Amino acid sequence: MGKTIIISNRLPLQINITEKDIEVTPSVGGLATGLKSFHKEGDSIWIGWTGMPEEEIPDDLKGKVLEEAKKQNCLPVDLTSEEIEGFYYGFSNRTIWPLFHYFMEYSEFEPEDWESYKRVNQKYAEAVLENLNDDDEVWVHDYQLLLLPKMIRDKKPNVTIGFFNHIPFPSSEVFRTLPWREEILEGMLGADLIGFHTYDYERHFLRSVKLILRKDSTFNEIHLGNRIVRVDSFPMGIDYQKFSDASLNQQNQPSSENSNFQKKLDYHKNSTSDAKLIISIDRLDYTKGIANRIRAYGYFLEKYPEYKEKVRLVMLAVPSRTNVPQYQLLKKEVDELVGRINGRFATVNWTPIWYFFRSMPFENLIDLYSSSDVALITPTRDGMNLVAKEYIATRTDQTGVLILSEMAGAAHELNEALIINPNNFEQIVDAIKTALEMPKEEQIRRNKMLQKRLKRYTVEKWAKDFMNSLREAKNRISKIKAE
Ligand code: ADP
Ligand code: F6P
Repeated sequence: MGKTIIISNRLPLQINITEKDIEVTPSVGGLATGLKSFHKEGDSIWIGWTGMPEEEIPDDLKGKVLEEAKKQNCLPVDLTSEEIEGFYYGFSNRTIWPLFHYFMEYSEFEPEDWESYKRVNQKYAEAVLENLNDDDEVWVHDYQLLLLPKMIRDKKPNVTIGFFNHIPFPSSEVFRTLPWREEILEGMLGADLIGFHTYDYERHFLRSVKLILRKDSTFNEIHLGNRIVRVDSFPMGIDYQKFSDASLNQQNQPSSENSNFQKKLDYHKNSTSDAKLIISIDRLDYTKGIANRIRAYGYFLEKYPEYKEKVRLVMLAVPSRTNVPQYQLLKKEVDELVGRINGRFATVNWTPIWYFFRSMPFENLIDLYSSSDVALITPTRDGMNLVAKEYIATRTDQTGVLILSEMAGAAHELNEALIINPNNFEQIVDAIKTALEMPKEEQIRRNKMLQKRLKRYTVEKWAKDFMNSLREAKNRISKIKAE
């Protein structure tokens, strides 16, 4: 067996150009953080974009970018500003992303963006084909590359190809509104195995294939001439040990060595007696339900004034897709809401919300996860949501309460969390109160079960399961062909 070629839009590393040099930082987002552990351990190369427009990398630094990428077994695909606009901001994030997350009114159907999407998928296909040996396995990731499996299959009919979709697959009634629905489904069906986070996404996909391509499936297999495509669900896990060890290490550090951020969190505890900390962490994305979360927190302070000075919401939002108008509007809305609530409820000793609009180093994330009493995660739609899982893994003393939206893929596995409907303010308000007042024994009882599950189904196990199913699917097809 050869190597595994992982392909995703973005590499796990982000290149930034400083005055005369380059700076390499880890990419933020579930796909990159999750798959990194699998990539590190195995014999794999990862093909993707560095996050910089090609024209902005000075010629004398291009070699260095390549070198830095190679150190992490990565191969960069260069995207021009025009491609980034049409393929990434355009078709990926103004068409597919909103549609697949049920924000139909945000979805734009621009033929030019579609053309760009096709061209850039072809560019990724060429990068794969240049590096592909017949015995390699190809693993394509996510909605930016839905056409890639077929493009590779057309050139290499016998190669083993897996595809995993990290975002929801919407109901066929939503999907069918897409003008290029046939091409998208055919693109995905170039794979031997198509994976989703949940059974529902898998069902929606199979129904779309039946409705739009008129192809039936039997026991999750679609027969296409001399090929069979298997469809299945694989809920992505996290590197549990990494999060739990990091949390333990940081807790055992002498306080003089703590980060400034941790000191600020300690200050929270000291400056407000018995104050509890609620955290929320996400990319600033309209699918994450951030605005409703802030509103719900405001309603909570209104309904339960005894909690003034006794609780604080620390909200961490990473800038994301800042060229897309809806993200710019959301930024404004969040700034205003935070201002409004802080303006209305703050006292000289207390600010109800601490809001950070930036990416943070891993250590700070761990500080936040492990210092908090409650994690408030309220997406209106989310393929999985790894933050919920990371939060549970860092709770080494098993205290802490997770409030989680039923619209996140993770809710299917994390039943012991307080599950809420993100559109139901009353329910969120009550869940916040329940969480803040939950007896320690109950917190521990719930987290014990959650941790047991997350420890068992790690990201490593997820990747292994997917790859084993891919091999099984391929072997079965070879057998059928031989018979
Ligand atoms: P998505 O893939 O939609 O971004 P997930 O919750 O699945 O959502 O994954 C987000 C990932 O990004 C997590 O692994 C989380 O640790 C990381 N992350 C989120 N916010 C930040 C932040 N402010 N700084 C650094 N990493 C972050
Ligand atoms: O899982 C959804 C996803 O779009 C990933 O493909 C991506 O890594 C992450 O969210 C962050 O998005 P972006 O790459 O657009 O910053």
